[in-house]
Amino acid sequence: MTGKVLVAYGTTNRSTARIAEAIADVLRKHGLSVDALPARSVNSVSSYDAVVVGGGLYAGRWHKDARRFVRRHREALAARPLWLFSSGPLDASASERDIPPVSGVKKAMTQLDAQEHVTFGGCLEDGARGFVARMILRSGKGGDFRDFDRIEEWAARVAGELSGGK
Ligand SMILES: Cc1cc2nc3c(=O)[nH]c(=O)nc-3n(C[C@H](O)[C@H](O)[C@H](O)COP(=O)(O)O)c2cc1C
Repeated sequence: MTGKVLVAYGTTNRSTARIAEAIADVLRKHGLSVDALPARSVNSVSSYDAVVVGGGLYAGRWHKDARRFVRRHREALAARPLWLFSSGPLDASASERDIPPVSGVKKAMTQLDAQEHVTFGGCLEDGARGFVARMILRSGKGGDFRDFDRIEEWAARVAGELSGGK
């Protein structure tokens, strides 16, 4: 496939955006044409041949922009090769084992016949928005647990599958 790929993301503190950009870079290196965009800014996916959707995890749910995106573009997404990712755990767990999708994301995977879902470690650092975020930081539980080797490996696999065709 020599098509166009959308990497859409839902983020509050930008760490998921950075993961989406890393995925987009890998896909580009594999010769694909890629847009990495905030999910809420995408009006239509009709010009894309494949889509990757990612969201930060908040209180056991995907970021609301990612949830709205898959709801709004349900039919178009179901008709395209689709990959999902979540970013959340503020510890090394996501680098050590596969963390299954939260229930809402699992449901979306089934409904949209997504190829695969992966959970990446998250990031919470000074300057994050919200009272709870500040409380977590104050208790010393923040940090950057994004594993870019793992992210790039996953993106390379997506690129491989896209090149092989669905
Ligand atoms: C209020 C709040 C709730 C969170 N809830 C979860 C959660 O339920 N599960 C999880 O794995 N991570 C949780 N996290 C960690 C975030 O998912 C992590 O910081 C992620 O990288 C945020 O993405 P963003 O920077 O793109 O918004 C939470 C963080 C905050 C601040």
